[in-house]
Amino acid sequence: MYAGSAGHLDLLHTLGLDSPSVIFAPSAFSPSSCRVASEIADLIVFANSPRQYALIREHAPKARIGVRVRAPYLSPPLNGYSDKHYLAASPRIGMPRSRVLEWASHPAGHAANIYGLHLYPGTNITSLDLLFGVDGRPGVYDEVFSIAERLPSIKVLDLGGGMPSTFHYPFDCPLWQDWSRQLSERIERFRREHRSIDVLFEFGRAIVAESGLFVTTVLDIVEDEQTPTLVCDASMSMFPRPYIYESASKDHPVCVINSDRSGPAKRYVIAGSTTFSGDLLHTGALLSEVTVGDRLAFHNAGAYCASMSSRFLGCMRPAEYLLTQDGLLLDASIRGRHNV
Ligand SMILES: Cc1ncc(COP(=O)(O)O)c(C=O)c1O
Repeated sequence: MYAGSAGHLDLLHTLGLDSPSVIFAPSAFSPSSCRVASEIADLIVFANSPRQYALIREHAPKARIGVRVRAPYLSPPLNGYSDKHYLAASPRIGMPRSRVLEWASHPAGHAANIYGLHLYPGTNITSLDLLFGVDGRPGVYDEVFSIAERLPSIKVLDLGGGMPSTFHYPFDCPLWQDWSRQLSERIERFRREHRSIDVLFEFGRAIVAESGLFVTTVLDIVEDEQTPTLVCDASMSMFPRPYIYESASKDHPVCVINSDRSGPAKRYVIAGSTTFSGDLLHTGALLSEVTVGDRLAFHNAGAYCASMSSRFLGCMRPAEYLLTQDGLLLDASIRGRHNV
């Protein structure tokens, strides 16, 4: 189980899901997260800096402690790499490779026993060259393999998430087959030339994005000579991922539910109905003729959507329904607190 924040760690612990093993890798530990960490047996923790490493060692001495390694910034970004959230002047996630090596080899340091390395390679990655390297240029994964070659205490490599949703890349498509083959070769090479090592993942979108749909109704259509705008009874605050992740806002899959209209597809902007002028859900969806009252379904809504929603401009959080073998169920725990 993977916890990325103190809240998630606390939840796993409270639910008793902290056995046999939890990985905890926030970008900084709070005093309360140190307390929960100290209560969990077999915890694997990844610290973002030497200071954080010392802090967690002091408060959770039994935890197996590793470090987060900074994914190198590739400029220009390779296809599939979203760098919208990367501040090149001030990257904040992980320690650079050279710093990890320098710190670990310091004779007075207590870093000689680094248990593992953690790397978050980016999001929605569709270029394996980025992960495994190309034309002599090392890949992002090489960053941790090359540190582990030098530090024999390292027993675990956590390669994070970042692979795309299975909506566009189902598990049987070449991207996944190639990823699996190239990674197996990389791990085998390490084992042959160095020692045995465990490799872990924290996939998010690849596992759950496709399991959810976000549904909204068209309230109005603002006609424009070029691109009409569909105004919906939703807002980017209810369904934020397309807005927050720039590339998703023009690529996010969306369709009209139960539409039997044929005819040529038209390009639409899809907007929310709040006063926020930037309240956009899609910047150019190709749909067959849409009319007021139509319902739109956004795919890939199972990750970074409901959990990212907010009450901005008084919007209610969207109701969540579970599709089970017995039909559509409104989750009783959220009934009454949401727009239905
Ligand atoms: C540390 C870490 N692990 C895993 C994930 C999941 O990534 P994804 O949904 O791209 O697979 C994230 C997402 O930001 C993350 O920050």
